[in-house]
Amino acid sequence: MNTISILGSGRVGTALATALAQNGAAVVIGTRDPERVRTEWAGTDVEATDIHDAIDRSDVIINATPGDTSLERFTALADQLAGKILVDVSNATTRGDDGMPGGLVYQGSSLGELLQRALPDVAVVKTLNTMLFSAMGSPASLGSAPTVFLSADDIDAKARVRELLAALGWDETWIVDLGGIETARGTEAFALLVPSLLGALGFAPFALSIAR
Ligand SMILES: NC(=O)c1ccc[n+]([C@@H]2O[C@H](COP(=O)([O-])OP(=O)(O)OC[C@H]3O[C@@H](n4cnc5c(N)ncnc54)[C@H](OP(=O)(O)O)[C@@H]3O)[C@@H](O)[C@H]2O)c1
Repeated sequence: MNTISILGSGRVGTALATALAQNGAAVVIGTRDPERVRTEWAGTDVEATDIHDAIDRSDVIINATPGDTSLERFTALADQLAGKILVDVSNATTRGDDGMPGGLVYQGSSLGELLQRALPDVAVVKTLNTMLFSAMGSPASLGSAPTVFLSADDIDAKARVRELLAALGWDETWIVDLGGIETARGTEAFALLVPSLLGALGFAPFALSIAR
């Protein structure tokens, strides 16, 4: 698999980078503070660099940064992102008093759709946003078969992201292709269930699963 660039070194960025690197992929983290990440991640196979260099290094870029400001930040990167795949894992939510997702920023739409509209030369693929970060790179460790969704307009980009999901340990039968990027509305809204799920079940890894 070609180099994968991940923007953001938080919980999601760390989980994805660690799992991909362990499975043999070349991973670059794009961060606002490469020096800090190099120090903290010393001894791992993950390379840290600034956001512009990380975008240049791969044709598959994962957005693991805050969803509520992603539209503005990625729109400003439109020229550099042209021709690439943007794998959007983020959810655009407002914060409740407890700091957890409290509402949707884009009611009647979704971040995925708005990113695709703002970046017509980029293939935006929404995925992995219906689970806790700790389940993203270790789905087989869950007690029952999880589901991961794909929402995107570009068929070829979806095929590339299926390869990425396989490298993260996702079985082909666990992947549900929901259709175009407009279907990201449904999966992004799942973020509103997360605070109460954490309250009810605790912080053990979980993923949405479709039983049928
Ligand atoms: N946590 C979960 O379980 C989970 C599950 C599904 C989806 N998501 C979504 O995934 C995204 C990341 O979540 P997370 O839990 O990893 O968040 P996080 O721990 O807060 O990490 C986000 C990272 O983004 C970067 N960042 C923060 N503010 C930024 C800004 N203003 N501009 C650019 N970069 C900024 C930072 O990395 P640097 O300091 O390295 O730049 C930060 O570590 C969110 O959109 C979230 O909704 C999270």
